[in-house]
Amino acid sequence: MKNEEIIEQYNSAVIGSYGRLDLALESGSGEQGSSADGKTYIDFGSGIGTNSLGYADREWADAVSEQAHKVQHVSNYYYNSTAGAFAVRLTAMTGTDKLFFGNSGAEANECAIKIARKRSFDKYGDPNRTTIITLVNSFHGRTVTTLSATGQEHFHNYFFPFTPGFKYVEANNIEALREAIDGSVCAIMFEFIQGEGGVNVLEQSFVDEIFTLAKQYDLATVSDEVQTGVGRTAKLLAAEHFGVKPDIVTLAKGLGGGLPIGVCLTRGEYADVLTPGTHGSTFGGNPVVCAGGLVVLKRLSDPAFMDELQRKAAYFRQSLEALPRVRSVSGLGLMLGAELEGAAAADVLKAALDKGLLVLTAKTKLRCLPPLTITYEQIDAGMAILKEVLESI
Ligand SMILES: Cc1ncc(COP(=O)(O)O)c(C=O)c1O
Repeated sequence: MKNEEIIEQYNSAVIGSYGRLDLALESGSGEQGSSADGKTYIDFGSGIGTNSLGYADREWADAVSEQAHKVQHVSNYYYNSTAGAFAVRLTAMTGTDKLFFGNSGAEANECAIKIARKRSFDKYGDPNRTTIITLVNSFHGRTVTTLSATGQEHFHNYFFPFTPGFKYVEANNIEALREAIDGSVCAIMFEFIQGEGGVNVLEQSFVDEIFTLAKQYDLATVSDEVQTGVGRTAKLLAAEHFGVKPDIVTLAKGLGGGLPIGVCLTRGEYADVLTPGTHGSTFGGNPVVCAGGLVVLKRLSDPAFMDELQRKAAYFRQSLEALPRVRSVSGLGLMLGAELEGAAAADVLKAALDKGLLVLTAKTKLRCLPPLTITYEQIDAGMAILKEVLESI
């Protein structure tokens, strides 16, 4: 099938909830995706931070297919060693105690919200101590509750009524955070870097204040690392940049290397809040997904891989900063946003696509979330395309 035919077929049967670009990706290898017409694309987006090891990584693909040949799903009636091994490895790597398995970022956040609220209720027996403070401009998912948690008014539309119990505080506004805390609050939930919100990094002093207040008022700290986690910021968790240990951490996107997974990691007393019958997810802990995830974790446990990742991230940032029309670059590691001068990020994205580069936007910024395995050659080649686009737009 040709590119146009694939698009036409897809649109004839799939609900149009996305404004997609006119490109069907049909295969890929390493850091390059390919269309049905055989055109190749350097990838600075990795499926919005999801193909962490690039396209069809050999070790990852072998592990996934081997597991599919063994057993693909067992249900939550039973146990499975691949899922268990994944959980043990991930909790050990992140210094957490136990996790809950789901399939997406929104699902991981739903679980975090449930744990924070149930822990509060178990401890205080107060059905009104349920409010979760989240940040203005945050993004936590598309379910009705995670849309509620999302601190952007335009998401609070159409699907009324939204789940009550969220309060929004401006990021980095310590005074506003202090003022928002009253007897109804049970948790503070935040992204260390607001991804969809425009690649905005939280200030250290604000993060410190979250943890000070949480301790003072016995509130759960919930970090949504769906986008920032799994090596994206050149550390396993973005929390490591800030020297803090949230009670609850959610991960998804890059964790399965391109297969659907979302986990809610917990520490201490939060690990045993959910009891049989209080939460569930049919596909949670799927062995095929966990087999792929184990390869991602293995790669991220290799100090040489992490050192190289840090070097490449610094090189990527310098290259982006050196481009024409780039006023400033925000973000950490390989999660970067470029504020442009005299060019709209959406136009740059489209022009880059025509020239064979996949890139993303976040609000007014051009956003880059390349695979963690990107090579220096691919960085140079992608930056050359961006340079050409930015000079001609
Ligand atoms: C920080 C953050 N949380 C949650 C989500 C939702 O994840 P998912 O689309 O897997 O439900 C996203 C998706 O972009 C995200 O960036």
